[in-house]
Amino acid sequence: MSSRYSIFVKLGSNRDLSKLELSVLLKKIGLEDITFTEWMDYIFLKLSRNYFTKFFKLLDNTGSIIKAGYLNSEVNVEKEVEWKNKVKDHLVKNIDKHSSDKIKQLKIALDVQAKNLDLRNNIVTSIRKIITDYTNDMKIQAKILGIKKTYSQLSPYQFYKENLHRRGFEITSFVVKSKIIFGVTNWVTNPLLDIKQDEGRQSRLFTHGTSIKLARTLIFLSGVSSDGLVLDPFCGTGTILIEALKQKMQTIGVDKDPKCFRISKENLNAFSLKYPAKAKMKDKWTVYSQDSSDLVKILKSKNLDAIVTEPYLGPFLKDLPLTEEAGEIMKSLEKLYINVLREGSKFLKDNGKIVFILPVYKYPNGLEMKPNVERIASQCSLHVQERSKFFHISLPVQIGRKHNVINRCLIIFTNQLE
Ligand SMILES: C[S@@+](CC[C@H](N)C(=O)[O-])C[C@H]1O[C@@H](n2cnc3c(N)ncnc32)[C@H](O)[C@@H]1O
Repeated sequence: MSSRYSIFVKLGSNRDLSKLELSVLLKKIGLEDITFTEWMDYIFLKLSRNYFTKFFKLLDNTGSIIKAGYLNSEVNVEKEVEWKNKVKDHLVKNIDKHSSDKIKQLKIALDVQAKNLDLRNNIVTSIRKIITDYTNDMKIQAKILGIKKTYSQLSPYQFYKENLHRRGFEITSFVVKSKIIFGVTNWVTNPLLDIKQDEGRQSRLFTHGTSIKLARTLIFLSGVSSDGLVLDPFCGTGTILIEALKQKMQTIGVDKDPKCFRISKENLNAFSLKYPAKAKMKDKWTVYSQDSSDLVKILKSKNLDAIVTEPYLGPFLKDLPLTEEAGEIMKSLEKLYINVLREGSKFLKDNGKIVFILPVYKYPNGLEMKPNVERIASQCSLHVQERSKFFHISLPVQIGRKHNVINRCLIIFTNQLE
């Protein structure tokens, strides 16, 4: 490959979370070391070709990464004739690859990323003209998508609504310093699947459910492979359990609220009926209605690969409580988490992970209140993961918007030092 970079990855709005997922993904495919560059919302990675298939396949299991693709060639932005020729080569190659007798109209999208917006608009206009001229010459019916008066790239939602993955392709290019790098999108997160799954849920309780995307991220971060066993001791409506089942894991859910117990069972049943082919779904999950401080009643042997949960995060609050009240809430949550994790971790296999969400109250004076992570770890004989393998991410990672008053963060405990 002539390009300096071979793969691009577009990070989600929570960049640290996406980088954490990417780090786990690279570890999963067996990489010990990587060369990467971070640029705007993107990571450019040098990967050897034998990793490509696994890499793109595993992206489906992530919850926060937006898209990824190959980078094919690069050229100096000053050399206009040269880069225009490159665009044409790139276009011809992709048209050949993607057009067929079955496709009546080829759809082509453009994603041009540059810090200089005038330059980006010029490049978009030029590429658009090259596409129009070439497809007219070749009498190919082509539609260029996503270009309005002011340039806009397609969102993942539009990408799938337009059926672009079946009927065309997206040219992706980056203007980095003096170079234009040309590539093609190969994978985009599919929000339509999540929307369908959400609509298909038997029952929803918004105060007791983790979002599908976050649930997928948490399961992915556990690093468990298919057939592994995952426990969610605060299973709510079963969202995390379903994400685990989608990755062909086995799951145990516990919730002390009988209504949540019933709803998660309904949701899991509906999911199993819908996807019976996913390896005998019915035998792969169990849900219990009880307090998770008493896990010893249901867990028998040390066979858990991970505990993954968004637990009870305290009472529903519209505004921040006074610091004294907040202190009391955090103390009681810490106690609950210690009780549950101390029990649960006894059934965790060696090198098992606990992927956990904590509430964080942020005060305007900069004061931050959350349960004490170190104390939870020491009381449960666990270690706190402090950073990711790649990309220098420090944990905990904040979840939710920066300006939220009541926030959450993601932590990972391990029962052995990595
Ligand atoms: C934020 S929700 C969990 C969402 C869930 N992880 C999902 O995937 O949708 C928290 C849940 O914890 C449950 N809960 C609170 N205290 C509990 C306890 N001591 N034992 C078991 N479940 C508890 C609540 O009933 C609630 O359903």
